[in-house]
Amino acid sequence: MEKKKFYITTPIYYPSDKLHIGHTYCTVATDAMARYKRLTGCDVMFLTGTDEHGQKIEDKAREAGVTPKQFVDNIVEGKGGILDLWKLMNISNDRFIRTTDDYHVEAIQKIFRKMYDNGDIYKGKYVGKYCKPCESFWTESQLKDGCCPDCGRPVVDAEEEAYFFRLSKYAGRVRELLVDTDFLQPRSRVNEMVNNFIDPGLEDLCVSRTSFTWGIPVDFDPGHVVYVWIDALSNYITALGYDNEKYHDYEKYWPCDVHFVGKEIVRFHSIIWPAMLMSLGEPLPKRVFGHGWLLLDGGKMSKSKGNVVDPYLLAERYGTDALRFFLLRSFPFGQDGNFSNELLIQCINTDLANDLGNLLSRTTAMVEKYFGGQLPAEQEGTDQDGELLVLATALRGKYEEQMEKFAFQSAIAEVFAVISRANKYIDENAPWVLAKDEAKRPRLARVMYNLLEVLRICGTLLIPFIPETSAKIFNQIGVENEDQTNWDSAAQWGALPAAAVVHKGENIFPRIDAEKELAALDEIQAEAHKAALPAVELEPFATENVPFDTFAACDFRAVKVKACEAVKKSEKLLRFTLDDGTGTDRQILSGIHKWYEPEALVGKTLVAIVNLPPRKMMGLDSCGMLISAVHTEHGEETLNLIIVDDAIPAGAKLC
Ligand code: ME8
Ligand code: MG
Repeated sequence: MEKKKFYITTPIYYPSDKLHIGHTYCTVATDAMARYKRLTGCDVMFLTGTDEHGQKIEDKAREAGVTPKQFVDNIVEGKGGILDLWKLMNISNDRFIRTTDDYHVEAIQKIFRKMYDNGDIYKGKYVGKYCKPCESFWTESQLKDGCCPDCGRPVVDAEEEAYFFRLSKYAGRVRELLVDTDFLQPRSRVNEMVNNFIDPGLEDLCVSRTSFTWGIPVDFDPGHVVYVWIDALSNYITALGYDNEKYHDYEKYWPCDVHFVGKEIVRFHSIIWPAMLMSLGEPLPKRVFGHGWLLLDGGKMSKSKGNVVDPYLLAERYGTDALRFFLLRSFPFGQDGNFSNELLIQCINTDLANDLGNLLSRTTAMVEKYFGGQLPAEQEGTDQDGELLVLATALRGKYEEQMEKFAFQSAIAEVFAVISRANKYIDENAPWVLAKDEAKRPRLARVMYNLLEVLRICGTLLIPFIPETSAKIFNQIGVENEDQTNWDSAAQWGALPAAAVVHKGENIFPRIDAEKELAALDEIQAEAHKAALPAVELEPFATENVPFDTFAACDFRAVKVKACEAVKKSEKLLRFTLDDGTGTDRQILSGIHKWYEPEALVGKTLVAIVNLPPRKMMGLDSCGMLISAVHTEHGEETLNLIIVDDAIPAGAKLC
């Protein structure tokens, strides 16, 4: 029988920065879905890739002093880049597209031309704002306080020649698609699209630009590059070979079964993308699913906020499977979820270490202890175990129902309900009591076998989420071949041989000491946060001049430190006894204890302003002020006293 096809995609990522844990969410979900479909016997095509053109990349490359291609190559293929990240997360994509790949570039030019030839793309004027000094074209929404976002200077109204796609023409058909079918899920996103975008009136879409060059050239009109969405969205078909000779799977896999996308790009996937395909006369994807965002402290993760979470760090500490599992276990896929270290550790400890880990280690340990690692083939019947058997064999159906709705969290919950039940079954049957009675050995063997079977079924259904762990489980419980862990066997009781050979392996998920671990993470994250702040930040420069006389009236002198001590009961203040060249000691108090130990300053020659009115601090007179240099370093206020050459005599005037 020919296998059922299943084509699934993630959005293609912008390689403008290193990816964070939020970015891995969609790709991990897509991977779980792809692995699930493979498990059910489908012929799966799982596509992901990178969206590499546009002004933002052009600008970033310029800042970095490299070409745009060098810039994206580094983020995509370089060490710790996107390809590395997908390897780390054990992503099983079948194909990876880069929009800078030759075959994609050629195909986009053909697609653009087709839509031009059929009249859906036309030349018009793009109205916006222009910054003359920067020679930059901006849209209203790009402006910062009404001014150029680059230089802050005023902008003027301007027009730019551009190509437009007749999106308006397809408004009615797209509306029907969204309202009358279940093309877009979750359903709640439909109203948002219809009310906010379609019903107020769809405007034609600007699809070319002349103000930057890092894009796919419109081949019949030099100077224009294809602007964003035609280039990016078409990846889903060019990667199958549409309008190119690199691949030949378009007939086989298109239309796509589902595009997984973040909620902020649902609009492009549910309005522009179907309209483009309508224009090309191609079939529409069957489904678009808009998932929620992973938030941090209730807000979006972003590099500029310095709050991004590093997937490399987390995977290194807890393992790839734990991280994958956490993402899909802890949040409903269609909604936003709040990431926190507490939640991550709690999830690992509760589900993975306690429930799953314990079931495996208790079961395998007991088979080793009571049967030397191999169950006898003679076992009692299952008369007493009806409930457990029914639960375990009905699990696949419940799981499938959730997976087909992309309800990963609920699918996992179904599996863990059976795992919990099995842990309870151990306590109810008390194998350690059975083991004391030779006559009960057939019953003991049956109890053990039942537990192994639950582990086999649950391990199989967990393959999409924690593939490496499932393999470890199979290895420990004595699975002999893939027939015992395939989709059919996941609904069958008794697939494991009765005389299974079991060995207790290493603990699959060691329990984490939450308190210690959270403290360690806090420290690492604080360090990372500091490192992400600018190395040096300066005080703003004065904007007003002072009269020369005012400056000249300030009396700066070299002073030598005769004695220096911390002021009692003050955390900040140091008391300086200074030789200012007059023969009488001068006392100055200075709030710099945070930066200097008093002993270290004795004998140094410093600079002080000596004609300020005396001030009382902590009951002591301070006659003048020591001069220091201040700046902010990685977010920390930093101070350096001005220490001058010892050859300068005490009292020398500085001017
Ligand atoms: O949008 N939580 O690329 P992108 C969940 N190139 N998902 C998140 C997330 C978070 N904190 N942060 C980002 C683009 N994402 C376009 C797509 S498709 C033809 C073109 C998701 O790199 C985001 O929602 O900005 C999006 O689905 C994906 O990461 C890529 O985002
Ligand atoms: Mg985005």
